[in-house]
Amino acid sequence: DLSGYPHYMLKEIFDQPEAIRNAMRGRLDLEEATAKLGGLNMNPQQLLRIQRIVIVGCGTARHAGIVGEYLIESLAHLPVEVDYASEFRYRNAPLDGETVVFAVSQSGETADTLAAVRESKRKGMRVLGICNQVGSTIARETEGGVYMHAGPEIGVAATKSFTSQVLVFLLLAVLLGRLRYLSARQGKKLLEAIEKLPEQVASVLARHEEVRAIAEKYAHADGMLFLGRQFQYGIALEGALKMKEITYIRAEGHPAAELKHGVIALIDERMPSVFLCPQDGVYDKNLSNIAEVKARRGPVIAIASEGDDRIGELADDVFFVPQCSELLAPILTVLPLQLLAYYTAVGLGRDVDKPRNLAKSVTVE
Ligand code: F6R
Repeated sequence: DLSGYPHYMLKEIFDQPEAIRNAMRGRLDLEEATAKLGGLNMNPQQLLRIQRIVIVGCGTARHAGIVGEYLIESLAHLPVEVDYASEFRYRNAPLDGETVVFAVSQSGETADTLAAVRESKRKGMRVLGICNQVGSTIARETEGGVYMHAGPEIGVAATKSFTSQVLVFLLLAVLLGRLRYLSARQGKKLLEAIEKLPEQVASVLARHEEVRAIAEKYAHADGMLFLGRQFQYGIALEGALKMKEITYIRAEGHPAAELKHGVIALIDERMPSVFLCPQDGVYDKNLSNIAEVKARRGPVIAIASEGDDRIGELADDVFFVPQCSELLAPILTVLPLQLLAYYTAVGLGRDVDKPRNLAKSVTVE
């Protein structure tokens, strides 16, 4: 059911306020200033014994895991490792009894992710799932987990499942954090900010025409770079994946500081860079990277925070997202990137919901 939208992808982008509302429903415990994730099937003693977290997934799911890594490390001070499920399954990674493995998968059927689940179980690990499809193979084969409740995702390009996954990681980070270093005051503040997200997501999506105009301007670029740091690094990877999947434009995502280590050689007037630079701990670092790109005549599209009056002087085009904690910003900054890929693909006449060579669920290796 397209509900009047021309493509499932656009419908699913606009489903996001509701999807993340569903992902948080019944899980915010403002009284105790923590998150409730009963599906993990772990009591506080067991949760406290976790010493290390490994996150595995493919494609977009792995990108959500990378954002999750930064969230869990900063709120719960636990070491986190993220790997491609396909690499992890053959790596013979050293694991011990205090490690918990999280398998992230919208479909719950991805062959490599399932194999990583089975390999981890063989090693005696506790494996938990973050899945969307209820009753899917990964959901069934894990000891517990968290359902995203994003609703069916039909467009091949993952959109609402990504923001729901990031939200689940946010809740997990709050829960693990509150068992460790996070004060009730900080926990409550975060939960209150999380509650505001659906409205903020809706307010960003309402400005989709601004993104369409940017998409039209750059649709004939030779390629596109997506650059971000820290909480925005996973978003840079995700923005590039969305762009290449549905437009076939060569797109790369990198941590912004990697520019100097090789990537900057690609910059010229036909290679635009999308910078993820909301007001966060690395904002000034991003500004210097933008200046380096501008000095080489590279066009710059910035995704910045409302009220930022410096960015306009540097970037060619700016899309503003509401101000919020840097921990929550990824859920807002990814939205214009989804829309940018969508409108670029539509402008180029691509088959948005069924891009060439891709399948929604990759059940073979
Ligand atoms: C990207 C995309 C793929 C999937 C990947 C994992 O838009 O859709 O990269 O994210 O194939 O799929 P799931 O989450 O079903 O395991």
